[in-house]
Amino acid sequence: MNSKQIAGEKACEYIQDGMVVGLGTGSTAYYMIQKLGDRVAEGLNVTGVVTSKATEKLALERNIPLMDLNDVTEIDLTIDGADEVDAAFRGVKGGGGALLFEKLVAHASKKSIWVVGEDKVVETLGAFPLPVEVVPFGYKQVERQLEEKGYNPILRHHEDGSIYLTDSQNYILDLQMKAITNPEALNDWLNNLPGVVENGLFLNYASSIVIGFSDGSVEVRDK
Ligand code: 5RP
Repeated sequence: MNSKQIAGEKACEYIQDGMVVGLGTGSTAYYMIQKLGDRVAEGLNVTGVVTSKATEKLALERNIPLMDLNDVTEIDLTIDGADEVDAAFRGVKGGGGALLFEKLVAHASKKSIWVVGEDKVVETLGAFPLPVEVVPFGYKQVERQLEEKGYNPILRHHEDGSIYLTDSQNYILDLQMKAITNPEALNDWLNNLPGVVENGLFLNYASSIVIGFSDGSVEVRDK
């Protein structure tokens, strides 16, 4: 078992009968969803709320009942991956491009558990490029302002060279910052830029972090 599988499957244990569960996106959340599919097949009664089209496809394949975010008042628990996590339970997300829906679902959740391999735990956020979702119209204006700040934005592309589009048909600018010294200030500044839809800083969402290790062990950190 790899560290992602260990973390994903461990976090699935926190899902209880009758819960409305936010289903995260990515290769670690994948294992949680697979395990949840097994538990649903055994009779567990849950309703999932997805954070991406990819997760919707996976959940439907595993026969997990789903509801639209518009139709739930509150989500009991969301389990999602992260690209970086620091000791203050702040994180960078959006490597898989689902940051907007992930933040909407996290915001509607009573609790959020992040599932990560040990390599995602960092002292300072920012070595992983910070995704910023922008509307295509006039996005070069946003890009210019990010360049002026020295944040080195790179427009995300697919391997075939086409521009990457999010599930909401927006672009992503990945900021190469190396270190984010004041995540709260950066989050505020980014969210005040016209054209920015959302950014990948998740500062006050994770209530627990489940860390999988390559030696097969797992650690749960509660805030
Ligand atoms: C997608 C995300 C993912 O949760 C994040 O990129 C972690 O992915 P993985 O578990 O595949 O490393 O934020 O937008």
